[in-house]
Amino acid sequence: MSTIAILGCMWGDEAKAKIIDYLGDSADYVVRFQGGSNAGHTIVVDGRKYVFHTVPSGILYPKTKCLIGAGVVIDPKSLVEEIKELEDSGLDFAKRLVIDDRAGLVLPLHQELDRNNEELLASAKIGTTGRGIGPAYADLTSRVGIRLGDLAHPAYLRQRIKELYRFHGLHLASNELKEILDSLKASWQVLKKYCMPIEHILHEARLSGANILFEGAQGTLLDRIWGSYPYVTSSCTIADAIGIGSGFSARYLDEVLGIFKSYATRVGEGPFPTEIHGDLAEQIRQQGNEFGSTTGRPRRIGYFDAVLAAYSSRINALDGIAVTLLDVLSGIEELKICVGYEYKGKTLISPPSHPLELNKVTPQYISLPGWEDDISAIRSFAALPPTAKKYIDAIQDLLEVPVKVISVGKDRSQTFKV
Ligand code: IMP
Repeated sequence: MSTIAILGCMWGDEAKAKIIDYLGDSADYVVRFQGGSNAGHTIVVDGRKYVFHTVPSGILYPKTKCLIGAGVVIDPKSLVEEIKELEDSGLDFAKRLVIDDRAGLVLPLHQELDRNNEELLASAKIGTTGRGIGPAYADLTSRVGIRLGDLAHPAYLRQRIKELYRFHGLHLASNELKEILDSLKASWQVLKKYCMPIEHILHEARLSGANILFEGAQGTLLDRIWGSYPYVTSSCTIADAIGIGSGFSARYLDEVLGIFKSYATRVGEGPFPTEIHGDLAEQIRQQGNEFGSTTGRPRRIGYFDAVLAAYSSRINALDGIAVTLLDVLSGIEELKICVGYEYKGKTLISPPSHPLELNKVTPQYISLPGWEDDISAIRSFAALPPTAKKYIDAIQDLLEVPVKVISVGKDRSQTFKV
């Protein structure tokens, strides 16, 4: 048996789903524990593309059970659509998908609040995905949120929705209330068969020696507490959030694998010390198809930042690293890795916690030669060009964590263990 967490360790979009999918063939359970439909996990199998927002990507393996934990927030309408699309593609998961009844709900009200908040914050907006994630988590914390299990109790649900609107100082006309309840009822017809507490399922799975894989969404630098606050998401994304969001204590994890791109990207606002602009950024954006899978926004591009990466590695107590999209760097003559920050005449090897300070640091780089060859057909570390090996070695040495997996393309097959 093994319990492994696979976590994005920068600002999300590290191609986690690909690694989860690659390691997922031996997983009996794949578990989501935080975030919601702000995540967009893309997997390509035999040329067919699947985009997941809430359903764990392990669903592609016919025997893997997929659990959505209590720490996840669910947009019922979008989840029903995702389920229908997956069913239409021929997948059968009636007995393999379970959603914890404690999971919070994202309602249209939350999406409206998300948009309004962004407008209100015009000069300091976060650049959210607009999926209502922040307001939904905020309501759960304020104890006025609606949870999936509430849908089984119509009278209670009706009262809670009325109170939620009252809490926000909003008038709810009776026809609006009816519309909301009708829509939730329709979603419940589809979702109820998947709804049950998952804590005991995971407990029994652990006792029976099952392989359990925890699938992180977003990334450590978007963690609500440890990320570049306030430019973060509203859930905790680090390894310790697994216990909170699934009921399976992070103490039981055998391994935490951190996923890093071979370069850095970020969507939305916020500090990004190694950000680059111009031709090189555009070349990487095009080669790496760096456009958000949830919003389609072009991603900001930067050099690999070993200062933030090492911070992330410490916070998550990483046992290993997967480096993804290494093929995207082919053809770049000079590669840089940030190894320190200069700030107020000092060299920092740990990032400042305040965004104003992180915004002002000057990255210090080491420079490494790139490689010309297309590496997308390579399937072993030994076969990589020597300069690519040196690049990987540099990451490994700077983070003091072994690189265990490398990915050189979108397809499941374009991945190898080191
Ligand atoms: P929210 O999660 O929609 O509230 O957005 C907050 C911040 O997190 C914004 O900068 C988003 O771009 C970012 N974000 C949220 N989900 C993802 C993701 O899955 N990948 C990358 N960035 C994300």
